[in-house]
Amino acid sequence: MSAAGGGMSVAKSGVKRLLARAGFDIVRSTRIQGGVDDFIPFEATMRAARAAGLSVGDYIDEVMNGTPGATRSTIDELRGLGVYTTGPDTVLEIGPGSGRYLEKTLEECSPGRYEIYETAAPWADYLVETFGVIARPTAGSSLAPTPDASVDLVQAHKVFNTVTFLHACRYFFEMARVTRPGGRIVFDVMTETCLEPAAVRTWATRGGEGHGSFPAAMPRRTCVDLFETLGCALEAGFLAPLGVASTEVLVFRKRG
Ligand SMILES: C[S@@+](CC[C@H](N)C(=O)[O-])C[C@H]1O[C@@H](n2cnc3c(N)ncnc32)[C@H](O)[C@@H]1O
Repeated sequence: MSAAGGGMSVAKSGVKRLLARAGFDIVRSTRIQGGVDDFIPFEATMRAARAAGLSVGDYIDEVMNGTPGATRSTIDELRGLGVYTTGPDTVLEIGPGSGRYLEKTLEECSPGRYEIYETAAPWADYLVETFGVIARPTAGSSLAPTPDASVDLVQAHKVFNTVTFLHACRYFFEMARVTRPGGRIVFDVMTETCLEPAAVRTWATRGGEGHGSFPAAMPRRTCVDLFETLGCALEAGFLAPLGVASTEVLVFRKRG
């Protein structure tokens, strides 16, 4: 192998390692998700998406995750549940990453304000420039810059299975606080419904090292009961594909 070829394969395996750490594996059929210490690298992912002739969201769904149409199908389910019917004017998203749900949400409604809380700065900057959203300072699990009862739709996708139980719960309190009466809260969690023994076996035996945070499980009843105490009633839930398993998307409505 030439030196150039060797360099290329070292670079490729470096990118692959980074992607795996971020919960993505570029091997389509044998993907095992790892931990999410950092989100997928911005430049490399954008370049790969361009080379594949796909939007970054479709590239993540189709090539990196091997689940073509996964984002679309979740948005379709949410539309069917009436999440966009009332025309949310203010939307807040935690951990939008590449913006694959953000972009499709903007196709469903035209909010006057779309706030994001995202720890990966290059992706947050890209979303601000591309979609005109507002990036809020993001630290831990706080939505402090957002006033109480000011948001019509609060969402987070594929975030709470990558952070610790307490981080997720702290965000839950904040999500309930910022949601307007009548507003919706949408997010997915890996409940017991998703954790089939076969999937657990795969993670346990093939998850590799350094995959500390994923998959973080969340008991369904704990989550639903907590939101109930915060004045938010569960309206619906459905499963969405996630790696070798699934994740449960929950839709809450804040009581008026
Ligand atoms: C697995 S990715 C999912 C990204 C995107 N929602 C999607 O489904 O493609 C998790 C995202 O959460 C972000 N994140 C991690 N910890 C966070 C935190 N404490 N607050 C906000 N975002 C966070 C990561 O940077 C990343 O963008």
